[in-house]
Amino acid sequence: MSDVSRPPTAETRPQARTAVVIPAAGRGVRLGPGAPKALRALSGTPMLIHAVHAMAASRGVSLVVVVAPPDGTAEVKSLLDAHALPERTDFAVVPGGESRQESVRRGLEAVPPDHTVVLVHDAARPLVPVDTVDAVIDAVRDGAVAVVPAVPLADTVKEVEPAPVPGEPEPVVATPDRARLRAVQTPQGFDRATLVRAHETVTGEVTDDASMVERLGLPVVVVPGHEEAFKVTRPLDLVLAEAVLARRRLNDGF
Ligand code: C5P
Repeated sequence: MSDVSRPPTAETRPQARTAVVIPAAGRGVRLGPGAPKALRALSGTPMLIHAVHAMAASRGVSLVVVVAPPDGTAEVKSLLDAHALPERTDFAVVPGGESRQESVRRGLEAVPPDHTVVLVHDAARPLVPVDTVDAVIDAVRDGAVAVVPAVPLADTVKEVEPAPVPGEPEPVVATPDRARLRAVQTPQGFDRATLVRAHETVTGEVTDDASMVERLGLPVVVVPGHEEAFKVTRPLDLVLAEAVLARRRLNDGF
């Protein structure tokens, strides 16, 4: 068999263009009252800008689509204009929807078809290291249709029968084997056509995009995530994020 007829490998395959959709339209009620979560400051810079920088730090990313709060698209556009971002990366801003799923779908519609790899990254995970982003992109380029970064769990997890009234004791139903569980992060990476199909066909509430691909019956694989890719959800997470940024400034003058 000649070289020409061999299937492409990671080395010989032309580099697929990669876009990132960043859903940033949530209110972030668990963080307490104030601006939409993605626009709250971490070390003086909005969380969303940290997240955009984290994605644009990957040389593989050529387009970032930010899904903004519907009443905040102009503000997000001017924030992106005000913060220096790499010239190799294009940016677009679209208004979000009622649910995260709807927001991602709207972002996906703004990705041109020549971007055959699409990452979806929560604005609420502003500190994900570039190595994690690159690992997800590489796994999709190597042929996986859906890739999630994930970390082992520190806590034992119990499945319960939820109490009708919050705060009341809840019966334990099962204790899954912790060694087989992973806490899933973003960016999650996809073959574009697969993610579009998932958003067109899967209905009902989901908490991540990979689970929609699972529902299509297609394989989803896990690559190592990173402890700094945690989601800023509650007030204590803001303290942790500020501490990570302070440590980075100390270590490398970030
Ligand atoms: O609420 P949660 O923390 O799961 O939100 C994850 C991400 O989805 C956040 O970055 C949030 O801004 C985004 N989101 C969105 N549109 C919504 C709800 C959440 O873009 N309607």
